[in-house]
Amino acid sequence: MTEKIHRIGVLTGGGDCPGLNAVIRVVTKAAITELGLEVLGIEDGYLGLIRNRMRPLQLDDVSNILTRGGTILGTSNKADPARFVVGTDPQGKPIIEDVRSRVLEHVHDRGLDAIICIGGDGTMSGAAGLIEMGIRCIGVPKTIDNDLLATDLTFGFTTAVQTASECLDRIHTTGASHHRVMIVELMGRNAGWLTLNAGLASGADIMLIPEIPYDLDVVCRVCQERNRLGKRFTLIAVAEGAAPLGGQQVVSKVIADSPDPIRLGGIASVLARDIEQRTGLETRATILGHVQRGGTPVAFDRVLATRFGHKAIQLVAEGTWNHVAVWQRGATAAVPIAEVAGRQRLVPPDDPLVALARAVGTSLGDR
Ligand code: F6P
Repeated sequence: MTEKIHRIGVLTGGGDCPGLNAVIRVVTKAAITELGLEVLGIEDGYLGLIRNRMRPLQLDDVSNILTRGGTILGTSNKADPARFVVGTDPQGKPIIEDVRSRVLEHVHDRGLDAIICIGGDGTMSGAAGLIEMGIRCIGVPKTIDNDLLATDLTFGFTTAVQTASECLDRIHTTGASHHRVMIVELMGRNAGWLTLNAGLASGADIMLIPEIPYDLDVVCRVCQERNRLGKRFTLIAVAEGAAPLGGQQVVSKVIADSPDPIRLGGIASVLARDIEQRTGLETRATILGHVQRGGTPVAFDRVLATRFGHKAIQLVAEGTWNHVAVWQRGATAAVPIAEVAGRQRLVPPDDPLVALARAVGTSLGDR
């Protein structure tokens, strides 16, 4: 360690995902046993830093949490200290304040030498804001969307793919029995990774992702063509962020006090109505929603999360501050948080998975 430090904090920010507890576990264990540090668990992400809600984490506190879904620390996706909503004005508009000096006070009061921030692009933006205040941060990327820049993989993603794929398989059998068009909506925000992977795993006939606008005529033609050929059902995996050519994404909610206020969702129902109207084929829509985020991580994610968390502790040991642990070409590495903060990694149109989908005859709704 370049400089003697005594105590670190750990927080989980943004939407939860399977594997967060595996990171908290290794961070706590390795910090205590390998570096002799004290660890404070910060509750509910940046909200705990703003409200000064933290508790010591001992080895016992992280025992038996490896396989547990969610996060024992709680999380929040509404509390960026640089843009914190402190109330609403008489017109109902959120009043936003920079409360980072309050956070700095709490960090000093608690004797925190550095903070491990486990989260997605929003959490990394929050960390970037704290770094500007002189607070040392180390990032650990998580998200079922797999859309964080500079990392080939985030933990939680593989579990979400597995869960979504199991759901697609179930929808497949009922769809085939009833000769219906079955539409399954998956999460992923503006990225199609989850849909592409789960759809490929389950043999979806059509996959619609945000990066490739779909043509409703093409989608309907594929469904009808399948019917004509005697395959009297169609399984469609649609990402919540997918939109038709020249059209808009479907917004399910606007959460005013969230740094990322738009919540996508509902495209499956819109599509089901349109397909049924145009083709006369009986169509059903299922929105998988938060089932994709819950539950125990698959074994791969437990190991990946543990590798990410241990890398974070190695960065602490080296004094490589303000970096985020990433996964590149099968190994952990580190890049500056500023490089990834607030940025998303989308599916490039020439991604091998796109080509693979086309190779197995899956329509991406564009041709
Ligand atoms: O980023 C993870 C994610 O699950 C997205 O896929 C989804 O769009 C969003 O979070 C949902 O957020 P919330 O939990 O606020 O509904």
